[in-house]
Amino acid sequence: MDRPTDPYTSPYHAVIAGYGASVPEKILTNQDLAQMVDTTDEWITTRTGIKTRHISTENETTAMFATQAAKKAMQIAKIKPGEIEMIIVATITPEMVFPSTASFVQRAIGAKNAWVFDLSAACSGFVYALSIVQQFIETGRMKNALVIGAETLTKITNFKDRSSCILFGDGAGAVVIQNARDNRRGIIYSTHYSEGDRWEALNCQAYGSRYPADKKLEDPDKIYMDIKGREVYQQAIRRIVETVNECLDKCGLTMDDIKMVISHQMNARIIESAAKRLNITEEKAFLNISEYGNTSAASIPIALDECARTGKIERGDIILLVAFGAGLTWGANVIEF
Ligand code: UT7
Repeated sequence: MDRPTDPYTSPYHAVIAGYGASVPEKILTNQDLAQMVDTTDEWITTRTGIKTRHISTENETTAMFATQAAKKAMQIAKIKPGEIEMIIVATITPEMVFPSTASFVQRAIGAKNAWVFDLSAACSGFVYALSIVQQFIETGRMKNALVIGAETLTKITNFKDRSSCILFGDGAGAVVIQNARDNRRGIIYSTHYSEGDRWEALNCQAYGSRYPADKKLEDPDKIYMDIKGREVYQQAIRRIVETVNECLDKCGLTMDDIKMVISHQMNARIIESAAKRLNITEEKAFLNISEYGNTSAASIPIALDECARTGKIERGDIILLVAFGAGLTWGANVIEF
């Protein structure tokens, strides 16, 4: 499929002007989990690379973390709330069924001139959302937008199921995307895919029209996430490899040109296997899953924030964001940071 997008033919470029992240203070360790289910720190570490995850308390909600991350991103971008024209919150654990989590963020930061909505594409939500904003910026329709990935996955995690409860954590990451005429920076290329035929690989069936609140669930565990770990594992490696190769090909780049590949943090082994197939060196395949676990749509912006704050990426570096998750969905963005 030939789908080149060359933003440099547009006078407008979608530039990351600010970044921020917010995670709960409370930490759940592998040792804590070993007290709850039949598992060990050794199993979790070797199979996933996860050591701890930040988990929300009963009173902490998705919009709270989204708002904190957004405020930090706005501070770095030196942007006022009234200048923001769009807010997208990528999430599968929204504040409530409706209105959107983005409505609560808008209210909390006072972005009165924005139109706002949530985007449901699971772990791919952030890369999907970046691409949507990119389109509005490159057509000159918009100057400033907030893109946020925010989750409280532990609220839909079955802490009796050892094959899934070890994986997930909570938090949010955000970026301010700005219309810039700087002809060297910005989103260079975005690509995304979906495969609805495989919806059963990862799902949470309650809370929607199929199982409304007044219908008794034949399986009470349907209120939790259900994952077919092996299937996801295999598909994830395959799709990440394909998508990264597509990005390099369409942008005329080699891995030498990329400063950092920031993958969705779903399992360190998945990232390492994909990296090996793509000849990505260890220092270029960013990993912070050991501290945060899998935070779905929040994982890439949390990782991006860490890379930027710690100087692992700097202005002018080319970075590649790549995600894979429920839907199935997958996609990537190539960005001159
Ligand atoms: O972001 C997208 C969402 N993420 C995912 O969907 C996760 C993708 N998949 C994965 O990360 C991995 O498949 C898992 C970490 C979930 C599982 O790792 P695995 O290497 O694929 O293990 P497995 O499912 O093949 O299970 C191997 C064994 C099984 O025992 P038997 O049947 O060999 O006796 C499991 O019952 O490990 C057992 N097992 C555990 N043992 C100790 C499963 N979970 C645990 C556990 N502790 N927590």
